[in-house]
Amino acid sequence: GMRKKEVNVICVGLDNSGKTTIINKLKPQNAQQSDIVPTIGFTVEKFAAASLSFTVFDMSGQGRYRNLWEHYYKDAQAIIFVIDSSDKLRMVVAKDELEQLLNNQDILSKRIPILFYANKMDMQESLSAVKVSQMMGLEAIKDKPWHICASNAISGEGLDEGVEWVTDQIR
Ligand code: GTP
Ligand code: MG
Repeated sequence: GMRKKEVNVICVGLDNSGKTTIINKLKPQNAQQSDIVPTIGFTVEKFAAASLSFTVFDMSGQGRYRNLWEHYYKDAQAIIFVIDSSDKLRMVVAKDELEQLLNNQDILSKRIPILFYANKMDMQESLSAVKVSQMMGLEAIKDKPWHICASNAISGEGLDEGVEWVTDQIR
């Protein structure tokens, strides 16, 4: 059959936002890990969707590893930025990390699509995707296509919508 088009994606966001849980859930069931631990540095994961074969750099969100993110911007064709919708206290930290990302030379120079997952929508205290979008200042992103969806990485709710959006942006 036809070879699927290869796409490089970088997945970033604060520690504990749910990046690894999301990527794990996007893999075929028999390839999914049952126990997710905090990422050290980064891992490289693969999954397929529609006509595309995704290679995802799942970065650690811990402060001491965030300086690694920028080294993988150059080769990325899409960004997945995960936000913990229930973590209001650290939303300003997430916003600051997003601003640094958007100001990076390798990001400034291309019209790369950015998918935001407003994750942990199942938590009692979680904010809506609209509210997360406001707190993160997403309306200010004018030079790149972006999209936000509410997600629950445990059940998988909302994840496919995001991947479909990325797929549409790339092909
Ligand atoms: P780092 O690797 O440290 O950057 O963290 P991460 O962003 O990869 O987070 P990870 O996927 O390890 O998830 C952190 C915790 O949040 C785990 O206990 C997950 O089970 C939990 N979690 C992830 N997504 C959700 C969600 O949608 N809802 C709920 N309730 N918990 C979630
Ligand atoms: Mg992780």
